[in-house]
Amino acid sequence: MEIRVFQGGYDKNLCYLVWCKESKRASVIDPSVEPLPIFEMIEGENLLLEKIIITHSHHDHIAFLDDFLFHFQNLKIVGFKSPVKKLPSNYLGLANREIINIGKNIITAIHTPGHYPDSMCYWNVEKGCLFTGDTMFVGRTGRTISTGSSVEQLYDSIYNKIFNLPKTTMIFPGHNYGYSKSCTLVENQLYSPFFQCKTVSEFISVMDNYERNRK
Ligand SMILES: [Fe+2]
Repeated sequence: MEIRVFQGGYDKNLCYLVWCKESKRASVIDPSVEPLPIFEMIEGENLLLEKIIITHSHHDHIAFLDDFLFHFQNLKIVGFKSPVKKLPSNYLGLANREIINIGKNIITAIHTPGHYPDSMCYWNVEKGCLFTGDTMFVGRTGRTISTGSSVEQLYDSIYNKIFNLPKTTMIFPGHNYGYSKSCTLVENQLYSPFFQCKTVSEFISVMDNYERNRK
């Protein structure tokens, strides 16, 4: 599986173009950045763009969805089965642990509410990668300030779902907010207090502390 990262959009958003080397079938994860360079790479690599995969329906993550729908025929839009925002009629809603494919590559969707009710992470075991949206960045979690956010659910999503995956899994977040665009789960656990909590109450105090000290 090939992955290319594009940065732009509203606030250091990261968008991923992912494809199967054998079949050239491709997906875009979060249409959150200006799409022209992505269109050019799709054409240059002779890819067949089939799906737009959405980590959650916050506006910045779907900002350029209409551009993709305009330029590519028969695109499927894929995300959590109960999206908060209204999405196009060709939307394919997924349950927790449901599987989709990008050509011959298998992707497991993991429902990770907390930052937002329809937050999903997408895991490919062969490549050892997890597209985390705003659930987990390099160095910290997403914030829990939206309607429907829940710090308790975020704790469960991170500690009982994401940290059950292999520790060498490389995360590919929705924003470039850390010291690098990606890191492994074990690096995040080693370097960030957000990922060293033993209890939900400890996690709540780390999150409260972060919000109080934000510039
Ligand atoms: Fe978000």
